[in-house]
Amino acid sequence: MTPHEFVRRLIPHRNAPQVQHGQAWAPVNIALAKYWGKRDTALNLPQNSSLSISLPQLGTDTRVTLIEGADRITLNGQPAPQAFAQRLSRFLDLFRPEGMGFAVETHNSVPTAAGLASSASGFAALVKALDQLFDWRLSAQKLSMLARLGSGSASRSLFNGFALWHRGQQTDGLDSYAEPIDIQWPDLRIGLLEIDTGTKPISSTAGMQQTVATCPLYRAWPEFAEASVQAQLAAITARDLPQLGDLAEHNALTMHATMIATHPSVLYWTADSVSAMQQIWALRQQGVGVWFTMDAGPNLKLLFEKTDQRAVEATFPTLKTLVPFG
Ligand code: DP6
Repeated sequence: MTPHEFVRRLIPHRNAPQVQHGQAWAPVNIALAKYWGKRDTALNLPQNSSLSISLPQLGTDTRVTLIEGADRITLNGQPAPQAFAQRLSRFLDLFRPEGMGFAVETHNSVPTAAGLASSASGFAALVKALDQLFDWRLSAQKLSMLARLGSGSASRSLFNGFALWHRGQQTDGLDSYAEPIDIQWPDLRIGLLEIDTGTKPISSTAGMQQTVATCPLYRAWPEFAEASVQAQLAAITARDLPQLGDLAEHNALTMHATMIATHPSVLYWTADSVSAMQQIWALRQQGVGVWFTMDAGPNLKLLFEKTDQRAVEATFPTLKTLVPFG
């Protein structure tokens, strides 16, 4: 199935725009059990299920209008960088009425391409805005699948709190969507430790493709990743942070092990990333309950609870602490 056919299956009755513009917001999400590797690159079908937590204070606000002529895409009030605009226009082709363009105004409260998953909140906000513009009234599950076509991790940014993106089994991708996990955890904290907010050396899309193609360790990943998701679900249900933190950290380091063993190597860490990891391990030795996860970039995301917030912030004075269930 092509992405165009997939979209036709999800939206059989294409409406003409019902309102002048659609506007929506979506949060950033941090994967605790990572998505790394596709089984279908056109439909963005993953090799494994993944699990995330959304950060309601950070995300993307997008406004979309139908216009005559070519697409006009802005990012934080400026014309968007070419690669970003091209990626969006290709995605918008799936929904474009004959001969029309889209004006897309995007505002991110996260640095683009700094490993803080702005593409996830970006595509999630865009499909929600399109849903308004065309009055599709799609379910969250269908919006999740549309967002997935733009960026896999975007499937999880439709929701607040924890979300689980099911790998799915079908080749048509109609069973690969994210769902919210109905658990509140008010004392949970996520700390963003920015090591370097510059553009990453290789995109996650290209990095995971190279990993699947050349990493000899990768064949162990899908099974490990599915087991991680199940174990993390149990830890979340029990609100057991030592268990969840340990599972999330191990999951992230295992993903990075596959990246490092890719040929040529996909290494997102800097020396400062490694020294932050060592500081976190030292804090744990002292009895502070803090764990980390990392995505396709050098920055760390820390997991801890309210009781340890002061100790963690004392070690990392630049830490930005967020309350996912605030
Ligand atoms: C390491 O969702 O950015 O952040 O589907 O190609 O757009 P594409 O990739 P993307 O990959 C995210 C990878 C990750 C792990 C995760 O968020 O699960």
